[in-house]
Amino acid sequence: MFSRMKGVKDILPDQIPVWSFVEKTAHEIARCYGFREIRIPFFEQTDLYVRGIGGTTDIVEKEMYTFLDRDGTSLTLRPEGTAGVVRAYIEHHLSQTPTARKLYYIGPMFRHERPQSGRFRQFHQFGVEAIGSTHPESDVEVITLLWRFFSSLSLPALRLEINSLGYHSEREQYKKTLLRFLQTVFSSLCQNCHRRMHTNPLRVLDCKVPSCRLATENAPQLLDYQPSSIHYFQQVLTGLDQLGIPYHINPRLVRGLDYYCLTTFEVLCGELGAQNAIGAGGRYDGLFETLGGPPTPAVGFAVGLERIIAVLPPSLIPSPPPLVFVAGFGENGKIAGRHLLEVLRSFGISADTDYQASSLKALLRSAHRYGASHTIILGDDEYQQKHVIIRDMQSKQQFITPIDSVIQALQPLLPKRGEPV
Ligand code: HAM
Repeated sequence: MFSRMKGVKDILPDQIPVWSFVEKTAHEIARCYGFREIRIPFFEQTDLYVRGIGGTTDIVEKEMYTFLDRDGTSLTLRPEGTAGVVRAYIEHHLSQTPTARKLYYIGPMFRHERPQSGRFRQFHQFGVEAIGSTHPESDVEVITLLWRFFSSLSLPALRLEINSLGYHSEREQYKKTLLRFLQTVFSSLCQNCHRRMHTNPLRVLDCKVPSCRLATENAPQLLDYQPSSIHYFQQVLTGLDQLGIPYHINPRLVRGLDYYCLTTFEVLCGELGAQNAIGAGGRYDGLFETLGGPPTPAVGFAVGLERIIAVLPPSLIPSPPPLVFVAGFGENGKIAGRHLLEVLRSFGISADTDYQASSLKALLRSAHRYGASHTIILGDDEYQQKHVIIRDMQSKQQFITPIDSVIQALQPLLPKRGEPV
């Protein structure tokens, strides 16, 4: 007997309608904003992530699923989508395809994190990457898309937090100042922060340990060290104001991936527990060069689909398509039933039968078990008289209709595919 590995989920048939609905909404909204889908491999050379995400980040230090291929190449299951999209963009010279500068993806990611509610080792992201524009309106557009996606799913208790990490040079200057401050509160910081202080001091600011938060309350603020880039941030905020997107500036928001610069943002959901970030992103103008490409600005986000589905209002969850059961019995009724089954399916109606059951009683029992909304009863008598009986499985009411007008009789009775329950 095998069971699934820790931190991964089976998505069972009953859960598929909600997944399909969220994915469909993601496809539709991304297309509305002019994004085109890209599908990148589930694994890449390990070095792509080490260089792209940063060697001192949690993801690279502790969370990657890395293994040696048979030829000795080190490979890693994708922990996120941005590095792979950038690699593909550079490799396929997509800068020369003007229609492929705004890309989106939906699919599984893999991180070896400590599993808990809302945190998985295989999880799914919907991500977008807007490539090639240095304009703050691009940031605004991406954040607006993110917000509209959540609004169209009626997600509750959302809070958009935003910050600016400034340009690389400004950040390097700030890091020195921050390090000097952190040394003054050294004894109040946790062990993890003692280490991060020297590898990635900004991460100390978003440490969740209460003593670290308290100790860094009066830390110098990154936003005060951005003489050249603060104007950019203001333009992003003005753009959000103009479109009525509500946000909160969070000077501690530094994000756990190294490729970010300028705008960073995160959306938190008040109805989730500790793992309450349902989407996050930012600008990453330096990543293309880090990965060997030409300087190319870009901004994007990714959302965690498991977390969205956990808070999706049940009223939005569409019902599975209604099922019509064909109960063909008797010598001729059975053959006619098989034929009718194919006719229904060719009209896009979900139809099924039970090949094991031969009596009408057994067939009706199967129709119940399969959750059919209607059953078409077709025995030898009906076959001879060229009609069928259509039975509503809930009300148990039934009526007779000519066999060659079954589709017309049935169609108005069936709820439309995917209508909310
Ligand atoms: P991230 O913040 O690492 O960013 O992940 C984005 C979202 O993925 C999180 O807000 C969360 O909803 C979900 N997520 C992350 N880890 C897990 C997990 N272990 N279990 C469940 N959900 C999880 C990125 O991945 C960047 N690539 C986003 C981006 C795109 N930035 C620019 N473009």
